[in-house]
Amino acid sequence: TTKTLIAPSILSADFSKLGDEVETIVRAGADWIHLDVMDGHFVPNITFGAPIIKALRNRTDKIFDCHLMIAPADPYLEAFADAGCDYITVHAEAGPHLDRSLQAIRNLGKKAGVSLNPGTPEVVIEYVLDRLDLILLMTVNPGFGGQAFIPAVVEKVRRVKAMIGDRPIHIEIDGGVTPETAPLVAAAGANVLVAGSAVFKGGNEEAYRKNIAAIRAA
Ligand code: DX5
Ligand code: ZN
Repeated sequence: TTKTLIAPSILSADFSKLGDEVETIVRAGADWIHLDVMDGHFVPNITFGAPIIKALRNRTDKIFDCHLMIAPADPYLEAFADAGCDYITVHAEAGPHLDRSLQAIRNLGKKAGVSLNPGTPEVVIEYVLDRLDLILLMTVNPGFGGQAFIPAVVEKVRRVKAMIGDRPIHIEIDGGVTPETAPLVAAAGANVLVAGSAVFKGGNEEAYRKNIAAIRAA
């Protein structure tokens, strides 16, 4: 794929009207919906789980891109699959059996993703490349929206792009994506950009549309 996809993270949406926010962000131009699931254990924050995602599922047909920041992840994969997630991404750091987790996701009929924290080298995915549909490279330490982009990860994007060769694997970036940082990661090989605070700032549809367009244009 050559088109860069924008995946707004509803972590930065108004949680009191999440269903409406999903519909609004889709009208404003979102390609995918990014869902940040946090457990207060793997990351120092708690967000939402499968029941909330299931409740949002009937609001749009867009891809649900589920980012699991939970450990362990394996016991919950089926629940997230049943909730209607299209992509299910686990962290390489969240468990000792990455290969097993990726197999489990595909066995549930879903697209499998792996995420790497900023400090995790890309070599940990070298032997699971054929089990992957998506690689999510964190450009912040996961847990919160609105943090500053870590530029050292741009080199990792380049290395991962070279590693995957001609395999049809998305390279997704998450954390501190703005019109200023988006071109850096896109040039390095990323084709899906998650953005939370930069997309939801302004708080209404017109602002969301402008924010998404600004990242796309960059
Ligand atoms: C961070 C989450 C991100 C976050 C990005 O733990 O995985 O998806 O919402 O937010 P921004 O775009 O504000 O950095
Ligand atoms: Zn995320």
